[in-house]
Amino acid sequence: DHIDKGDYEHFMLKEIHEQPMSIRDTFRGRVAMDESKIFLGGVLDIMPQLIKAKRIIIVACGTSWHAGLVGEYLFEKYGRIPVEVEYASEFRYRDPIIQEDDLVIAISQSGETADTLAAIRKVRETGATILGICNVAGSSIARETDAGVYTHAGIEIGVASTKAFTSQITVLTMMALLLGSKRQVLPASEYKELIHELIQVPSKIEEILKQESEIEKIAAVYKDVTNALYMGRGILFPVALEGALKLKEISYIHAEGYPAAEMKHGPIALIDENMPVFALAANDQSYEKMVSNIQEVKARKGKVIAIATKGDKGIRKMADHVIEIPECHEAVSPLLAVVPLQILSYHIAVMRGCNVDQPRNLAKSVTVE
Ligand code: AGP
Repeated sequence: DHIDKGDYEHFMLKEIHEQPMSIRDTFRGRVAMDESKIFLGGVLDIMPQLIKAKRIIIVACGTSWHAGLVGEYLFEKYGRIPVEVEYASEFRYRDPIIQEDDLVIAISQSGETADTLAAIRKVRETGATILGICNVAGSSIARETDAGVYTHAGIEIGVASTKAFTSQITVLTMMALLLGSKRQVLPASEYKELIHELIQVPSKIEEILKQESEIEKIAAVYKDVTNALYMGRGILFPVALEGALKLKEISYIHAEGYPAAEMKHGPIALIDENMPVFALAANDQSYEKMVSNIQEVKARKGKVIAIATKGDKGIRKMADHVIEIPECHEAVSPLLAVVPLQILSYHIAVMRGCNVDQPRNLAKSVTVE
């Protein structure tokens, strides 16, 4: 298929804007009309192993690994199953203990990442069940797993992964809810409520995309910084990691993501009036704690750019800039909160004259070690 940028200057921007559609494509045909059930054809064959699995091990690299960390929260909270998230490159060279009743999930946009492929080949020897979450149909990882769920995000050209990430999280959310329901640990009413929340995500992302020009103005303020910190808690901590990765890979600004409470164990020493801190403060379980983390940054004269829930006046009083995301259930908050960070990184990189779609030293898929 011939893929072009359409009206967009770069593939990355096009792919950011495609997210309402790509997420819809991910759940299309997989959710019952009355929103009471999820169907994942790809896991039917391994449903017994899924239900009786004692543990889930997720292997992935880069952005896909960040999606895995979001998956960890979801599987533990809604499926009540222990999860370990592993860098495929580390896992493959350790002597990991894998049991037959483990479920190993490999997440990969390309399905060709050498370390992730090697990790599942290692698992193959143990008899554990392997499931792939891939975007590219017929890719090596998709072929070498016992079962799989395609993300259906559509082809992703930009080296910086955007829509593949949100589609991976969408699949993980569906899997976690399905598992919770099948294992009878998630009440039917909550199952239904969460499915409804997921279905609402694309239109909520459309709302966020409408704020692009305001986000671009914030990008202009910070385009010349040399360092940036990202902080989040709970299910939004992996989004802090992903925000930092997006910024460093396309704008070459040094950025780090931290669980907000870890700041005082070291990184807070970096904060002065020149340090921007992107704070994920959407209204969730850890909201109050995030508010105090933001105050700690402000007390050290750091600049706070907060991603907060629409209408949050408290955060507005504290932060230097606020980007609002629509009110949502905590379970789907990563899908919304990551979008402003993608847009910010994109515009900062463009303003710095960087090659956004093909950043230096990076390949879309790392097929060699
Ligand atoms: C993301 O923006 C990266 N370019 C990179 O970290 C990527 O996610 C990683 O290489 C894994 O790729 P995969 O999903 O195709 O396995």
